[in-house]
Amino acid sequence: DPRVTAAAEICASHAYDPAELIEILHELQDREGYIAEETLPAIAQLLNISRAEVHGVVSFYHDFRREPAGKVVVKICRAESCQSMGASKLIARICERYNTDLGTTSRAGVTIEQVFCLGLCAQSPAAMLNGRFIGHATEEGLDTAIVEALS
Ligand code: FES
Repeated sequence: DPRVTAAAEICASHAYDPAELIEILHELQDREGYIAEETLPAIAQLLNISRAEVHGVVSFYHDFRREPAGKVVVKICRAESCQSMGASKLIARICERYNTDLGTTSRAGVTIEQVFCLGLCAQSPAAMLNGRFIGHATEEGLDTAIVEALS
């Protein structure tokens, strides 16, 4: 499994240090796009920690994706400034529109995720669509951008 090989290479580059588990998982996600279930036992073994520990970290941090992302990845900021400008409602509306839940991918291939501060607080609520910043995000604006990116 190439994903297990990737995990093994990353663990080796961190000298199999269990204290670097989070960094290792981040690198793996950057490289593979998500943390495949199959890689978890390998990581546990290589770092000499329990599988439960690896599972715990992966599920505790919302940053980690458990399945491949869709064609369009929408990240909506949920930190304080954006929250005060209606980020939660925006997330709920977009999830509803695409019939999906936060952190999962819709059938149309839209992955909606939350992030905590994109450094664009002056333009709250802020979002990011396939790496592109969108300030003063609205349901309609995001929807238009999503539809464009899907086509
Ligand atoms: Fe949302 Fe900073 S709080 S961009």
